[in-house]
Amino acid sequence: MAGFLPKAIVSVVVFAYGLFNVALYGLIAIKRGLYFKKPTEKQTLELKIARDRMWNLSKDYSGLSHHFITLTNGFKFHLVSNVKPGSPAALNADKPLVIFIHGWPDSSGIWRYVAGSPDLQESANVVAIDLPGFGGSGRLEKYSATRVLEHLTELILTLRMKYGVDSDSESRKKRTIIVAHDWGCVLSMRLASEAPALADRWILSNGPLTKMVESNIRRLLTSAKKMLNTALNSPLSSRTPILQAFRTISPILRQLSLSGYIFAMQLPLPLVRYFLTGGNSALMTSIHFNSHGKQKPTPQEMADCMSSTMGPSLAESKTQTADGESYPTGVQYDRDFSKILDMASYYRHGAASGRWQKSLETITGLHSIAGEKVLRRTSSGTGVFDEGVPGALKASSTIVWGQKDIALDPHLCLDGMANYLVKDSQVVMLPQSGHFTPVEKESRAALEAATKWAIEGEKGDVQVALQVSFPEAHVVVRR
Ligand SMILES: *[C@@H]1O[C@H](CO)[C@@H](O)[C@H](O)[C@H]1NC(C)=O
Repeated sequence: MAGFLPKAIVSVVVFAYGLFNVALYGLIAIKRGLYFKKPTEKQTLELKIARDRMWNLSKDYSGLSHHFITLTNGFKFHLVSNVKPGSPAALNADKPLVIFIHGWPDSSGIWRYVAGSPDLQESANVVAIDLPGFGGSGRLEKYSATRVLEHLTELILTLRMKYGVDSDSESRKKRTIIVAHDWGCVLSMRLASEAPALADRWILSNGPLTKMVESNIRRLLTSAKKMLNTALNSPLSSRTPILQAFRTISPILRQLSLSGYIFAMQLPLPLVRYFLTGGNSALMTSIHFNSHGKQKPTPQEMADCMSSTMGPSLAESKTQTADGESYPTGVQYDRDFSKILDMASYYRHGAASGRWQKSLETITGLHSIAGEKVLRRTSSGTGVFDEGVPGALKASSTIVWGQKDIALDPHLCLDGMANYLVKDSQVVMLPQSGHFTPVEKESRAALEAATKWAIEGEKGDVQVALQVSFPEAHVVVRR
């Protein structure tokens, strides 16, 4: 009973704040004139063309062809690549493997510029995947940390085999680089922490390191509490400590107001669907309209963005790859935003911070690619010290951060990052860039430059490499 009351209160507050945000976002959409705006005939046509361009399996998209990887449990991942997985070209080429992982509310389509770069395609085997429940991949019943990370890990292990990184007799024959954004970044940070052998370099953009954010929140709350205690002990001079306490927790309050949409996604599913797609998909329209930074997207760019969120339509669901493969069944392709509730479930089922219970297959698979370095680390085993702080990334990482991200408070998301990085890691700041780094013109060039630097064996300083395409890019943390 003791634990019941606070939990009920929390639920009520979450529910109320969620509802408040549905109303708030609705009002904003009405004010912006988006809510009642039906798409014009031209927009509808533009979207249809964009979806055919992006999802028609019989055509290449941005120089990348469509493929599927089916896991041992039958789950089907959709991906695009410049080389067919498992082909002699993929197995034999002496080129690094680069895997791009998208965020929310996107799909492999968000990498149309970076993974679409002819320069990268020339120098690497490039793969952009759709996470479970997004784009053209299959759906999961539950998007818990264990389900999502198990599927993702098996996919990456399979890709490493099919692109000649590992074979039955030998592992790590080529470099593997993972480039990830937003939710893809959240999940990749978990992998870099809990399964670091999966890649040699992690390029991670504008997604929170959940364990660090939690720890930052706890730290700020503790010091605010101390200040309030001081105020209580000397009521006469209490004004300053109360103000200080308030200032201390202001990043938390700011992040809470920025995260209103997360609360809205905890509501009952019909309300969630309404929140995400109602008012002529006002929310998605407004997210994508603002995803290009200072530039206003052209109608075609808008259509590409919406297509990336929506995935294949009924028309594309009937297409086939050159190998005769098609999109997974069990999706209502005739419905607009057919996977929107799957996408929302990442926020509902604890994929970011829940415990990942690794299966025996995963442990064995990770062990087989770990190499000496990682094995020694685990076997020297003095425990806590070796493991670092909870959530610390255990592989070389380059965090590329659009500084003007309005969705993520920089104090909560970056303060203390140095303690979470290993040797040969950096945080690179991109001033003037916003959240959607793979889309904005300047930041996508920076991401491409970082990827190129990793592909070419990390010669020279990453800041110098990035400044060629983004002169103001600068390293703020270096390990
Ligand atoms: C997919 O693309 C092919 C090749 O361009 C085209 O012939 C076909 O009509 C397209 N399929 C659909 C359903 O649009």
